[in-house]
Amino acid sequence: MRIDVVSIFPSYFDGLTLSLLGKARESGLLDLRVRDLRDWTSDRHRTVDDTPYGGGAGMVMKPEPWALALDELAGRPDSTDAARPTIIFPSPAGEVFTQKTARDLATREHLVFGCGRYEGIDERVFEYAATLGEVRLISLGDYVLNGGEVATMAMIEAIGRLIPGVVGNPESLVEESHEDGLLEYPSYTKPSSWRERPVPDVLLSGNHAAIAAWRREQQLERTRARRPDLLPDEEASAD
Ligand code: ADE
Repeated sequence: MRIDVVSIFPSYFDGLTLSLLGKARESGLLDLRVRDLRDWTSDRHRTVDDTPYGGGAGMVMKPEPWALALDELAGRPDSTDAARPTIIFPSPAGEVFTQKTARDLATREHLVFGCGRYEGIDERVFEYAATLGEVRLISLGDYVLNGGEVATMAMIEAIGRLIPGVVGNPESLVEESHEDGLLEYPSYTKPSSWRERPVPDVLLSGNHAAIAAWRREQQLERTRARRPDLLPDEEASAD
């Protein structure tokens, strides 16, 4: 998969050289390129923002550097290229990012992330981007960050680990929170008793069916207590 990121703070993404995603980049499973939006400015101050029409607090990102960046990274308008990219603008005003979104985006060949700052990006950039690829405005959640960088990093990590081969043991992907719509069951390791807290007996029993049933019940119990909004209707009312 190829991922291009455009930001005025490219060094935010230095952490994506580490761990599993760093290895995926080294092995070529993930071709991740981070670019500075200011590379597409031409004035002495490398200006990327200006005052909002209609007034209001803060500054708005100018359309021109974004258009040039998108032209270079996402192709030309009305391209006949079948593999048009998916262009993602992180925004608190977007659809909420979930594991389902991550699974969907992990199937794409080419993602372009445009990280806005200040009060946002001139609205016409989204319209222009839609001539180059599929545009998605995506929110990390119902709170406000200072810009799209942290949201982009979170999304790249969630998407990147779903690329086949990135996570060594694919079974570990299946058993995680949200993969089956429920929160993950609790995990324990040695010692079997620690500070007077024993590991639940069933996990030491060797009875795989009993362990599976216990884990499922734990998933339901936790989800009911912490995230009842995730439960299917027939589980929501159970005691
Ligand atoms: N930019 C600012 N806040 C954000 C959020 N919650 N999600 C995605 N991008 C953002």
